[in-house]
Amino acid sequence: WPRNAVREDGVMFVGGVDVRDLAREYGTPLFVYDEDDVRSRMREYAAAFHDGDVHYAGKAFLCGAMVKWLNEEGLGLDVCSGGELAVALAVGFPTERITLHGSNKATWELEQALEAGVGRIVLDSFEEIARLGYLAKERGVRPKVMVRVTTGVEAHTHEFIATAHDDQKFGFSRSSGAALEAVRRVLALEQLELVGLHSHIGSQIFEVDGFEVAAHRLAELLVAIRDEHGVELPELDLGGGYGIAYLPGEEPHDPKGIADGLREIVARECRAYELAMPRLTVEPGRAIAGPGGVTLYEVGTVKDVEGLRTYVSVDGGMSDNLRTALYGAEYTGVVASRSSDAPPVLSRLVGKHCESGDIVVRDLWFPEDISAGDLVAVAATGAYCRSMASNYNHVPKPAVVAVRDGRSRVIVRREGAADLLRLDAEVEA
Ligand code: LLP
Repeated sequence: WPRNAVREDGVMFVGGVDVRDLAREYGTPLFVYDEDDVRSRMREYAAAFHDGDVHYAGKAFLCGAMVKWLNEEGLGLDVCSGGELAVALAVGFPTERITLHGSNKATWELEQALEAGVGRIVLDSFEEIARLGYLAKERGVRPKVMVRVTTGVEAHTHEFIATAHDDQKFGFSRSSGAALEAVRRVLALEQLELVGLHSHIGSQIFEVDGFEVAAHRLAELLVAIRDEHGVELPELDLGGGYGIAYLPGEEPHDPKGIADGLREIVARECRAYELAMPRLTVEPGRAIAGPGGVTLYEVGTVKDVEGLRTYVSVDGGMSDNLRTALYGAEYTGVVASRSSDAPPVLSRLVGKHCESGDIVVRDLWFPEDISAGDLVAVAATGAYCRSMASNYNHVPKPAVVAVRDGRSRVIVRREGAADLLRLDAEVEA
């Protein structure tokens, strides 16, 4: 849970605000971000990587307020689409601190990035190298670019398997020689300025092994580039992927531990190959936005399925949190509006959608007297929940509020039926 407290009467506070007041004022389901929590993670990452750059991965959660916080805390931003770039531009984020990512970037996205003058563009395919070269020449600009390398490391929470490198869509594979060929082609285009290599090995990672293997392979590539072209690339972007605690007892590394670890790993490789230490960039998304977000739901139907469990249905579900259905992700939830002395019963928190896979929390214990009108809070929903929300079943997307010092404000408005109908060409405006 973020900086919230559960009072003796069982009422939860987030950022000093009573969740019952939040539900009353803004309705449910509701995403609640503890602004101090998110900002302090931004600050901690920026401080830990004081000698490099932290580019928050906007895909985890992005809106104008989030972009403003990033700006105020001095971070950079990684965007992976024209839509994310548009949010950043709309609130005046400094464009030199933006990196454009994306697999299969559209021409208009590359054009928009060039026109905005983003700081880095990470190249993902041969076709894109040629296309960006052409577009840059046409405009008389020389963007800084990086080559995304698939190092052959596929990191998971507690394991990594070096198998998927030839069987995925991202970047240029190291093993096949595609990465070196990409570097060759970029260096041959004088309108592109190659500043470094990029690698993102995966997400929700707790172990350093994957980063060690990736750094080693990237260093080998840097040496091969030096040998072939006589240049040492000055930057290395190691992507994001730092795991957060979803369940009690999970212990993620702190930003300083991550920074020290990565710096040491890269420094070791550089010493071994007599390379100058590159400037490091990292792109944490989940680790910044995840822990400070909570989803509030209101309980509707409660069904006791005899001998199995209690199904507690809430007013959202897979449209606001797809991660349980998509990845089997695990969450924890509690009744946040009152305490109860009733005995705990094995429960499943489910949504309102027309699928039995519409599960928010697979297994948890709720008091036996849980009933319609209770508020349930689900922890650590700040990353990849609102950003992956859908309108499945024509369910409007929830509002997002930020809380701080006992005050709350809407940072993303709630959708309504009118928003959904607005796009329907058969419906009169
Ligand atoms: N950089 C790049 C190039 C990425 O592709 C990603 C995530 C990140 C940074 C940020 O990773 P993070 O620090 O947030 O782990 N939807 C999934 C996660 C997919 C992440 C894709 N790329 C989920 O809900 O877990």
